[in-house]
Amino acid sequence: MDGSGQHISFTVISEGEEYIIQTCENEYRNLMVLLNDKIYIEDFGQCGGQGRCATCMVEVTAPNGALLTLERNEQSTIAKKGGATGNCRLSCQIFINSALNGAVINVLSDIY
Ligand code: FES
Repeated sequence: MDGSGQHISFTVISEGEEYIIQTCENEYRNLMVLLNDKIYIEDFGQCGGQGRCATCMVEVTAPNGALLTLERNEQSTIAKKGGATGNCRLSCQIFINSALNGAVINVLSDIY
């Protein structure tokens, strides 16, 4: 063991482009911050991660149904913005940990 964070790899789809993202545990505060750093997405994460704006909404497909537990207030923020389907999440409420490994994250910014 060298003490460094666990290596994490997942796929992001944004505006028809596919990106393989490599990171490690807790390298970023949350997935919204990571996406803004690695990929430029217009008007993404406007409330700065407070779970209010839903501009950071993503559709998540993860092995074993991981990542589908919503945080407090997430459901109502998502519903307000019309993201009703079962696997929508606010990416600012997703932490960078092993649950992301192998996931596919579809950025939904084009619904605005
Ligand atoms: S950044 Fe506003 S809800 Fe996630």
